[in-house]
Amino acid sequence: MSDTPDLEPSSAAANEAHRPIRSYVIRAGRYTDAQKIAIDVHWDNFVVPFEPRLFSVDELFANANPLTVEIGFGMGDSLLEMAIANPERNFLGIEVHKPGVGKLLHGLAENGCTNVKVFCHDAKDILAHCLAPASIDTLLIFFPDPWHKKRHNKRRLVQTDFITGLLPLLTANGRIHLATDWEPYAEHMVEAMEAVQGISNANGATNFWAEPDRPGTKFERRGIRLGHGVWDLLYTKNA
Ligand SMILES: C[S@@+](CC[C@H](N)C(=O)[O-])C[C@H]1O[C@@H](n2cnc3c(N)ncnc32)[C@H](O)[C@@H]1O
Repeated sequence: MSDTPDLEPSSAAANEAHRPIRSYVIRAGRYTDAQKIAIDVHWDNFVVPFEPRLFSVDELFANANPLTVEIGFGMGDSLLEMAIANPERNFLGIEVHKPGVGKLLHGLAENGCTNVKVFCHDAKDILAHCLAPASIDTLLIFFPDPWHKKRHNKRRLVQTDFITGLLPLLTANGRIHLATDWEPYAEHMVEAMEAVQGISNANGATNFWAEPDRPGTKFERRGIRLGHGVWDLLYTKNA
């Protein structure tokens, strides 16, 4: 045993302290043939390579239509459905799970969608670097990874600091729509969101949104099969 006090953190602990907290793990998903082909053929049409610089809505879409951003679209079924139903809007999907991106690309190509772009990269970097102030009309985070264990709760995407940091990117009266099937995360979301200055709960403080206007998602259907409930929250930025 050393007789000197242990003042320096171990290098492992020091590395840990500098590592960013990730809200995801990259899963080694299998690709279907359709996903592989879509990635080979359509990647460049829809996927924007991450660079730490501003991308204007006009540069991404060649128009100035209102922008919806979905973080963590998973297999992309909700994003595809919304994009088809709302051709007058632009959609930016952000997802790190490449097979899910492949699935979405397949659907976008099959349906001739021209109003969707994708970043296959950490949403925290995209929001920190790539989008201009007042450029997002609607931000969607549907069924983010619940990070059940107490010691993992800090990895949950919805946190007061994260939402506060992205607020300048929302237009005046811009919307943030959240959904989860995990009750403790729903409670955490309410607490985190109600602590953000400059937004209001559209259904009254601390209230959930009983009849949300969104498509179903794959993760939601899995939760329902497991007997989970579903909780939606809608916040609007104060003008
Ligand atoms: C539990 S899944 C839900 C997927 C989909 N929204 C649904 O409801 O079916 C959460 C997704 O968020 C993605 N994700 C988590 N953190 C992310 C981040 N920081 N940037 C991009 N994607 C992220 C994960 O890769 C995962 O696919």
